[in-house]
Amino acid sequence: MAEKLLEVRDLVTAFDTEQGRLRAVDGVTFEVEEGKTLGIVGESGCGKSVTALSIMQLLPRPMGHIDGGSILFKARDLVVASADVMHDVRGDEIGMIFQEPMTALNPVQRIGRQVSEVFLLHKEMDKTEAWASSIDVLEKVGIPSPEIRMSEYPHQLSGGMRQRVMIGMALACKPDLLIADEPTTALDVTVQAQILKLIADLQKEMGMSVILITHDLGVIAETCDEVVVMYAGRVVERAPVLELFGNPLHAYTRGLLQSIPRLDRERKTRLPTIEGNVPSLEEMPEGCRFSTRAPEAHDEAAIRERPPFEEAAPGHWVEACRFCYAG
Ligand SMILES: Nc1ncnc2c1ncn2[C@@H]1O[C@H](COP(=O)(O)OP(=O)(O)OP(=O)(O)O)[C@@H](O)[C@H]1O
Ligand SMILES: [Mg+2]
Repeated sequence: MAEKLLEVRDLVTAFDTEQGRLRAVDGVTFEVEEGKTLGIVGESGCGKSVTALSIMQLLPRPMGHIDGGSILFKARDLVVASADVMHDVRGDEIGMIFQEPMTALNPVQRIGRQVSEVFLLHKEMDKTEAWASSIDVLEKVGIPSPEIRMSEYPHQLSGGMRQRVMIGMALACKPDLLIADEPTTALDVTVQAQILKLIADLQKEMGMSVILITHDLGVIAETCDEVVVMYAGRVVERAPVLELFGNPLHAYTRGLLQSIPRLDRERKTRLPTIEGNVPSLEEMPEGCRFSTRAPEAHDEAAIRERPPFEEAAPGHWVEACRFCYAG
């Protein structure tokens, strides 16, 4: 069995709001093995980005807190790591591609300065070395004429090129883990495919692990080894990719899978969608969170009591609500 690089256990992340302290992530557990890709999928607002920001210790302060659990990365618990340790971990050992490339790049600084800074912060390089390394990394992520791009500002680049710069910055120090939060959502389909291929090629070359966050189950199917399905701050199902697509056990996962278009089905019928919305954090049921939208009506006990998380088959975990998972 491959070694585990990251182990997230019972992670609870909450925000202080006008309605009190609300849990955006409520007891999330998963692992990432060395060299493997873990996909995290789920509708908007399910806590995917908050999970990623918790791992990086980049929650917005002072509202965001980790209220429980552990994040073991190379035998250290990042939840209790000092600011100095986290400074070394970020960028050097864990790289992150943020969901909003325009907000992550500084609009008033030239590309070259922003990329060089990663090397200056984490590697013992002088400015000339950092500049040369930046050109190398931009070349590696497929940016034509990198020397010229270095002196341009982010707005002078296309969306796909900006995303490549972000990937270059995340990979500059050859991290052991790359967290890619919706790395292709803002891009058109051909650029999307190029960027995903680029990440996969660099992963193979560098042997790193990847956490890929996406809404897109097609992307998951093509790129991931294992999948975590999140719903309303919790993991409802987790399995190796083929197992998840071949044998989905939770009603929410089934709903997500039914809503992907398939070429082998007749087009006359509309695609089924999951009715309703994710409940807001203030009105979240403590029991099965999918109870408000599930096809089967839930009884009081199922709405009130948190279902156990069970291993239904080797490596295939499911939140065992009596109504959403018949077992
Ligand atoms: N700074 C904050 N203050 C209060 N609540 C927040 C804050 N940031 C996120 N949340 C809440 O945490 C929950 C999870 O948000 P998160 O951004 O992780 O969702 P997501 O799964 O990444 O969604 P998307 O697919 O839209 O990116 C949401 O209910 C969101 O409103
Ligand atoms: Mg997000």
